Amino acid sequence: MTLKTVQYDHPHLVLGGAACGLKDAWARVPQEQSAAEKERAMQRIRELLKKRDAVIVAHYYVDGALQELARETGGCVGDSLEMARFGAEHPASTLVVAGVRFMGETAKILSPEKTVLMPDDEATCSLDLGCPADEFSRFCDQHPDRTVVVYANTSAAVKARADWVVTSSVGKEIVAHLHARGEKILWAPDRHLGAYIQQQTGADMLLWQGSCVVHDEFKADELALLSKEYPEAAILVHPESPAAVAALAHVVGSTTQLISAVGKLPTNRFIVATDQGILHDMQKRYPDKHFMPAPTAGQGATCKSCAMCPWMAMNSLGGIEQVLTSEVGSIELDATLAEAARRPIERMLRFAAQAKQRVRASGEFAQDGALFKHYGPA
Ligand code: 13P
Ligand code: SF4
Repeated sequence: MTLKTVQYDHPHLVLGGAACGLKDAWARVPQEQSAAEKERAMQRIRELLKKRDAVIVAHYYVDGALQELARETGGCVGDSLEMARFGAEHPASTLVVAGVRFMGETAKILSPEKTVLMPDDEATCSLDLGCPADEFSRFCDQHPDRTVVVYANTSAAVKARADWVVTSSVGKEIVAHLHARGEKILWAPDRHLGAYIQQQTGADMLLWQGSCVVHDEFKADELALLSKEYPEAAILVHPESPAAVAALAHVVGSTTQLISAVGKLPTNRFIVATDQGILHDMQKRYPDKHFMPAPTAGQGATCKSCAMCPWMAMNSLGGIEQVLTSEVGSIELDATLAEAARRPIERMLRFAAQAKQRVRASGEFAQDGALFKHYGPA
């Protein structure tokens, strides 16, 4: 195992008395394999996937080899909405979710009859950790007049308490829709995404104060300096980033929306403020374009995650092979809880499908909830 020491205390979790686990997560990041070792493991996994009637449902932040294998073997690589949709619609009896715990839970909630495996079911998310279900439920009880909208990066128990689940690709549209109906929102857990949606829609939103350990580290001042140095570069920002960082963006959107923006903007250089795992897909699709990570550390400051989610990094070829050869690592959920969590997720999927149809009918690009500001280098 590669050991990488990271000192990080998530303020919300410290207040809640729970351990953040970021250091533990980094300690479990798998050791680098040689190309030959990787290819041998991939061949064994290809055979196991066939034998088990399984497909891999992967996120862009996991290791590039896992992304390649997922695509090549008929699975998918996508943002969290696409992963949910793909897992629910694919006929395979087993889904191997290469991502973090909430993604595996969502797959199981939508397909209770399927076996859902995760290479490491302790791969979690600081947003999920920072929003314990009991505390969140009390928060909801205090505001019964508000529609409860939660980000997908939450536990099944938190989702079960919600009216709507959203991902970053449809959150703004769903809240705008609720706002137009005169509803007031209780939002959890990401405060930056919540504030961004509030600013974009003008909705009345009460925000839980969670944050992503990766995106919280992007620094607006350093980003502005980098942008001055490369005025032709378009700035792509995931909305879990702080408001000052999003304010500098040419595009704010989900991981898929950021990738699709690369193909639409008339420039060859991009500054990317999200987990660096996404660069694998961007570079593969657009080999002639240049991608630069957005700065995570200011002068004299230390970077804790360095734009790499430690829980996403726990996904490995070895882990996938292991769950496919043993029965450990399957996601199990209480049936009543899963049923309650399923309703708000399905509401989101229906909304997204209808929005896609409307967009198709009007001839615009699908899923372009992303904010495209006027791009024009200074
Ligand atoms: P996306 O839905 O945009 O892929 O985001 C998921 C996530 O966890 C980002 O940190
Ligand atoms: Fe959670 Fe942030 Fe990791 Fe995404 S990048 S899974 S929000 S900790």
